[in-house]
Amino acid sequence: MLNEQTVESRDKPHGVQRQPAPGGPVSRNEKANHELSIRVRDLNLWYGDNQALKNIDIDIYQRNVTALIGPSGCGKSTFLRCLNRMNDLIKGVRVSGRVEMDGRDVNDARMDEVALRRRVGMVFQKPNPFPKSIYENVAYAPRMHDLVGRKAEQDELVERALTDAGLWNEVKDKLQQPGTSLSGGQQQRLCIARAIAVQPEVILMDEPTSALDPISTATIEDLMDKLKQQFTIVTVTHNMQQAARVADYTAFFHLGEVIEYNDTQMMFSNPYTKKAEDYITGRYG
Ligand SMILES: Nc1ncnc2c1ncn2[C@@H]1O[C@H](COP(=O)(O)OP(=O)(O)OP(=O)(O)O)[C@@H](O)[C@H]1O
Ligand SMILES: [Mg+2]
Repeated sequence: MLNEQTVESRDKPHGVQRQPAPGGPVSRNEKANHELSIRVRDLNLWYGDNQALKNIDIDIYQRNVTALIGPSGCGKSTFLRCLNRMNDLIKGVRVSGRVEMDGRDVNDARMDEVALRRRVGMVFQKPNPFPKSIYENVAYAPRMHDLVGRKAEQDELVERALTDAGLWNEVKDKLQQPGTSLSGGQQQRLCIARAIAVQPEVILMDEPTSALDPISTATIEDLMDKLKQQFTIVTVTHNMQQAARVADYTAFFHLGEVIEYNDTQMMFSNPYTKKAEDYITGRYG
């Protein structure tokens, strides 16, 4: 993964490790938390005969935002789906390697998928509220998981999730209206409220703002910055400015491989591979 020659040929920023641990970033953001959330080792994935992920080693840290960038078709969404086994739902998928949380492989046959998807939630590119009320969009999953009992407890949880998602003030007087009656940006925050209502550890976001206007995008970016105090966020973006603004760490994917994984500032100011540099500066992709 790491090309020593390229590394040697560049000015090394202070503190950069020359021999990073497999999967660890080359440079650590001193302000970021380094407790391990998800450890991925030698992950490979095939759709039939087409290998979409190749030998991926990466450590994802708790309560950080990690951005996945790279050209279309390089495997970002596929990788994201490996983290909560959403690829299981696709026919013909084969996976090898390990995706560990607390030392346990999520692909282990004994792993409870429902429990896993509670721990690792997902927000999609296109806001997709359930065809239910705003209230029910948030209350449904916690009820299914037996996280709430009395109605008052449920009300409290709905208010907290909507507040944390930055939506409460806009919807508190119309909780019984359909989730789909909200604007696109509000619907995306409703989907975030729905994801955080079950108190996951990790939230996966696949291009969460690409269907939104600039103001809603800025709102979601601010929200990600707040949410990372409580949750680990792994997000995909095609917007380099967004990665630079929101992410503590950035992984650059290319043709199914992680070419470079680094502290975001380092990646954007002094990438150590030519491919990442070309991509970031817009010469590729
Ligand atoms: N459901 C699927 N069945 C078969 N092949 C798939 C499937 N989903 C993705 N692929 C293939 O896997 C590769 C990686 O696709 P993936 O969607 O992960 O890329 P991506 O980096 O998310 O791209 P984009 O930026 O366009 O969203 C591509 O070659 C794609 O054609
Ligand atoms: Mg994708």
